[in-house]
Amino acid sequence: MSDYVFRFGGEGGEGVISTGELFTTACARSGLEIYTFRSYPAEIKGGHAMIQVRVADKNILLSRGDGVDVLLAFNKEAYDRHYKELKDGGVLVFDNTDFLPDEDTRTIKYPIPFNKIAMEEIGVRLTKNMVSLGSLSELFGVPQDKFKELIREKFGKKGEAVLEKNFKALEAGAKYVKENLKKQDKVQVQPTGRQPRLVLAGNEALSLGAIAAGLRVYAGYPITPASSILEFLAKELPKVGGVVIQTEDEIAALGVVLGSSFAGKKAMTATSGPGFSLMTEMLGLAVMAEFPAVIVNAQRAGPSTGMPTKMEQADLMMSIYAGHGEAPRVVLGLTSVEDCFYGMIRAFNIAETFQTPVIVLTDQGLAQREASLLKPDVLGIEVVDRKKPTAEEMAHYERFKITPDNISPMAVPGMPDAFYSATGIEHTEAGELNYEPANHNKMMNKRYQKLQGVLKLPWIVKTYGLEKPEVAVIGWGSGEGVIREAVDIANKEGLKVGALHPKILWPFPSEIINKYLAQGVKRVIVPELNFSGQFATLLKAHLANGNRNIDVISMAKGGGIPWTPSEIVNKIKEASKIHV
Ligand code: COA
Repeated sequence: MSDYVFRFGGEGGEGVISTGELFTTACARSGLEIYTFRSYPAEIKGGHAMIQVRVADKNILLSRGDGVDVLLAFNKEAYDRHYKELKDGGVLVFDNTDFLPDEDTRTIKYPIPFNKIAMEEIGVRLTKNMVSLGSLSELFGVPQDKFKELIREKFGKKGEAVLEKNFKALEAGAKYVKENLKKQDKVQVQPTGRQPRLVLAGNEALSLGAIAAGLRVYAGYPITPASSILEFLAKELPKVGGVVIQTEDEIAALGVVLGSSFAGKKAMTATSGPGFSLMTEMLGLAVMAEFPAVIVNAQRAGPSTGMPTKMEQADLMMSIYAGHGEAPRVVLGLTSVEDCFYGMIRAFNIAETFQTPVIVLTDQGLAQREASLLKPDVLGIEVVDRKKPTAEEMAHYERFKITPDNISPMAVPGMPDAFYSATGIEHTEAGELNYEPANHNKMMNKRYQKLQGVLKLPWIVKTYGLEKPEVAVIGWGSGEGVIREAVDIANKEGLKVGALHPKILWPFPSEIINKYLAQGVKRVIVPELNFSGQFATLLKAHLANGNRNIDVISMAKGGGIPWTPSEIVNKIKEASKIHV
């Protein structure tokens, strides 16, 4: 069974990301499972770009893996940054026209003059990445035809001459390896004979999920790493009769979403932290006027402009509390590329059912990660629409009527007799402005209480590993896969570990978490990618009296690099030992 991590590093603007993407897709089309991670500079040209892909011929992959099996270093910086992560016995493929590595026997080294071949044989420096792909195909068994097919798809629009040069570069790379190098390693990523895998990036799966949920109006302003949602939907949404509007800023984007929702359409926007900050006041309006709306926040490292192309899970508290006054809303965390699809359906269903803004948290790592996944079961999808007034209710229509579940039927403009003011000012059940304390408290209670129904949904947490563990791992968002993999490893080593992963982050699922912890958990590890341990803080605040003796170990890390399974396994071991 093969399971390898290939990492590609080099200068941004010189085609490193394309190399990794083409290699990834070629593997997926050869029937292999894939899981990528990329980290690149915020500049269009210059700085260090890295992409890695874990490739395996086994089940769907859960994490980016541990360490690196094959490092392709286009320059010295890539070697300096990544060589320490190359496993003992791993393979270094490098451009010896750029640099020479230190002499050691720890790894197998293949020097290939990518630059020289590209310049002297092809006459175009940019094609050095295709020279590298040609050499990888010869070294590790990915068929050259797959690369040719993909080069045509990716660069075809640049014209025949560009294609020809790239094909020639690919062949030159393969020829160099055949004539000059002797294979010394055992890495092989040959086709499996299985069907090509379905590969989607997180933002693509998310956009498709939104369309499946009934999205018809998308408004947004470009921002990394959410822009690819705007780009994808601009192509796809019109095909189902929807519209995409690029607004002048994020305030306007949420304004368009709320207006469209008022008019009866399912609408969403997507942004990242800085754009979400701008949406704060509009978010209050959505809560007050009880508009269904979906707001995706593809988190990146902040504050301010921060590190636009690096991941972090640092907008949790902001998503829960952003805004003045008290504005209850729902916050969901997407957990995997597959979950980006299904999670968006859940987000729209909640928005419609509870007439509330739903903030969906993804992050740069997940948004831009490509993974192979099973074909979604589109026929099994349940799509929910908002509650509409009956003919009887229309006779004396009250938009914000207090009902047993605190959800009021929502009329659409144009329905006869269903006039009402949709307003941010405090109002009565009929929607008339009112500043009386008793009315304010009544309506606050309605807005809070209606969301309690969210916590009764059947899917709000997932659990893995032992049902009654001594050490529990509770992470959130895109940490799910790596935690699951780590828990599997730890249990195989005889530790008593389980994991609970909440999909709903707010309202906080206290009851279900406390029930899980009360079964004998002694320590909880909370891995999350932020500096201060935001989820751990929430968890501590929500521990029931009987669970207050449980140690909550915050495992927080800022800086833009996701966890590896071994980092979490090591923490589990530490926590288990302290406990023994
Ligand atoms: N033949 C022809 N064209 C090629 C090629 C080849 N062999 N190899 C690469 N290219 C083209 C790519 O198609 C791409 O062109 P495009 O921009 O027209 O699609 C370009 O060269 C860059 O190559 P790519 O592989 O995509 O990226 P890279 O590894 O060189 O890194 C990035 C460049 C991704 C770091 C950079 O362009 C980028 O996007 N930076 C981030 C910007 C950002 O989001 N900033 C935040 C703002 S707040």
